[in-house]
Amino acid sequence: VSQKLAANPPMGWNSWNHFAEHVTDEDVRSAADMLVSTGMRDAGYIYVNVDDTWQGQRDAQGVLHPNERFADMKALGDYIHSKGLKFGIYSSPGAKTCGGYAGSLGHEAQDAKMYAEWGVDFLKYDLCSFQSNMNKEKADHPDDPNAARNLMIAAYKKMGDALKATGRPILYSLCQYGVDQPWKWGPSVGAQMWRTTDDIDDSYGRMVTIGFSQAGLSKYAGPGHWNDPDMLEVGNGKMSEDEYKTHMSLWVLLAAPLLAGNDLSKMSDIDKSILMSKEAIAIDQDPLGKQGDRLYQSGDLDVWTKPLSNGRVAVGLFNRSWDNRDVSVDLADIGFKSGANLRDIWKQKDLGLHTGVFTDTLPKHGVTLLIVSK
Ligand code: GLA
Ligand code: GLA
Repeated sequence: VSQKLAANPPMGWNSWNHFAEHVTDEDVRSAADMLVSTGMRDAGYIYVNVDDTWQGQRDAQGVLHPNERFADMKALGDYIHSKGLKFGIYSSPGAKTCGGYAGSLGHEAQDAKMYAEWGVDFLKYDLCSFQSNMNKEKADHPDDPNAARNLMIAAYKKMGDALKATGRPILYSLCQYGVDQPWKWGPSVGAQMWRTTDDIDDSYGRMVTIGFSQAGLSKYAGPGHWNDPDMLEVGNGKMSEDEYKTHMSLWVLLAAPLLAGNDLSKMSDIDKSILMSKEAIAIDQDPLGKQGDRLYQSGDLDVWTKPLSNGRVAVGLFNRSWDNRDVSVDLADIGFKSGANLRDIWKQKDLGLHTGVFTDTLPKHGVTLLIVSK
């Protein structure tokens, strides 16, 4: 079952980046409607993920109920499924989530079973207050440098096993900000993806800090197991068109899960063209399932490459500076000694046959995303 889950990097929408702790059942239903009406679903964005703050109280039997903003989670799941979409939910291995709501500590099997009954297809499991359990473990075992880490891995495995025991395929997404290299142990707890960093926000500085820090992680990703540099901010309004194109380009080169985090009712044509670029998405979802990595870096200039099926290579040229700059790639360095055909993904334009060094002039915070082929 788990091998079939996330054969490609998962795609969908998540409530957190835009709605945060104010999210309601109605917001999630209308997000589902708009994934369909905007064409996002057909572009591949199929998970509808309710993030933190849906939870209410546990009753005397330990059953967790949603809060007053969510009348009926099973009905919400049915609604999402009726649109040809999948239903995602959120919890924590700790007693409390990051938002201070009820986590799953001590109720893992019970919660997993309930998610399956609700028709849940995706669980994001966020470290949050479990960090205090780890601190205590560390204090209790001063001679064991791995005590806290082992406790965390066991907690993640407990939920991974509980999800498996339900018999329902539920994609398992670890959110622990890259603590203790989850790319090394994520698969062993049954996870299909794991956050590699702390939270993104809708700023160029934070986005590029995360994106360019992913160098060296490519070998840990592949079909069924993906590095997650956090959700998308495209469309949230605080980056320029070039900056959002840089964001999308980096994420697709990283074979990152693409979880849109914007208000789908307020998408500009530019937002739509970035989020629904068929050619950019195809780089992310390429069947070879290889994550890209850094080829060169020099000051504010970066070149990243991602191997694609049929001997093609995706290349991102990035200018992080405040001025126009020339950025180059030597085609011989990426396996095309005798020249190659170049296609510019954002311009949607064939650039023809090139040999040797290809150079483009990029504006401030600009990107050129290319597909290079024989
Ligand atoms: C953490 C996660 C975020 C979000 C919030 C919710 O910060 O990293 O993605 O889920 O918790 O409280
Ligand atoms: C503005 C809009 C955003 C987005 C960007 C793209 O900032 O508010 O939604 O479209 O432009 O450049």
